[in-house]
Amino acid sequence: MEKGTVTIAHISDLHVAGKGDRRQLEDLDSMLGHFTDSGVDHLIISGDLSDRAKEADWEIVRELLLRHGWYDWARTTVIPGNHDLTNLEEEMRFYNALNPLPGARDRACRARAASFSRFFRDLVTGDELRDAGFPFIKVLRFPSLKLAIAGFNSVSAWSPTENPLGSRGEVDPAELRAVRSPEALRAMQGCFVMGLCHHALKVYGTDSLLDQAFDWTMELKNRQEFLAAMRAIGADIVLHGHFHRFQSYVLGGIRFINGGSFRYSPNRYSLLEIDESGAYRHHFAVMP
Ligand SMILES: [Fe+2]
Ligand SMILES: [Fe+2]
Repeated sequence: MEKGTVTIAHISDLHVAGKGDRRQLEDLDSMLGHFTDSGVDHLIISGDLSDRAKEADWEIVRELLLRHGWYDWARTTVIPGNHDLTNLEEEMRFYNALNPLPGARDRACRARAASFSRFFRDLVTGDELRDAGFPFIKVLRFPSLKLAIAGFNSVSAWSPTENPLGSRGEVDPAELRAVRSPEALRAMQGCFVMGLCHHALKVYGTDSLLDQAFDWTMELKNRQEFLAAMRAIGADIVLHGHFHRFQSYVLGGIRFINGGSFRYSPNRYSLLEIDESGAYRHHFAVMP
């Protein structure tokens, strides 16, 4: 990679399902080796590390990151996806048996997000003593550039009426307020600012009723508020996953990049190269 340029690799939606799929784990192993060999500076994984919300899958990802020297606050950033926090079958079984109140489901989902943050604390806060949570702001100081990553949890709790597939998302308004606080804005001053959430702001977005029905099950419910917050913090770019397609689009003057799905395209990843002036080049790269 060019000197003076910061390179960010972005993958998403690994959907690891135990150690049974050896092929996938070998692919991830190769991909991490490729990132090391090609001089990538920072890796971002935008959620759905696990397929069925299992800590054992997070552990598989952690072990591979550790093996390649990527399990380090300055090297890797992760956020959760709906598949990390919600096991649909369990939700439905629990619902049919006990019919818990929506408030209880919200609390359980938040507690699960907290357990994800605790599990990946080394990558989120880089500090044993501080509480990991959302939003988090990571300021990375490269020789040529200061990069701020603002990470959000966009997973909302399963609900039989509002979120029947568990894949609709929402960023807690408290997170969107917190990221605009004077301290947060001060921390990001002079940085290339990158927003990070799991859910897509744009899914199909066509007039077809079938597409619209699908959009509804996948959408980020408060995407306008999220977009307004991204504009307020001066985000240069926003990365996400969830809708398993490699996409790049502009909304409200901000470039959004969907990192696709590593599970379904294990050779492809998103690559950003940012120079010291904040100008960047982006493309979806293919591992040789
Ligand atoms: Fe996914
Ligand atoms: Fe997802």
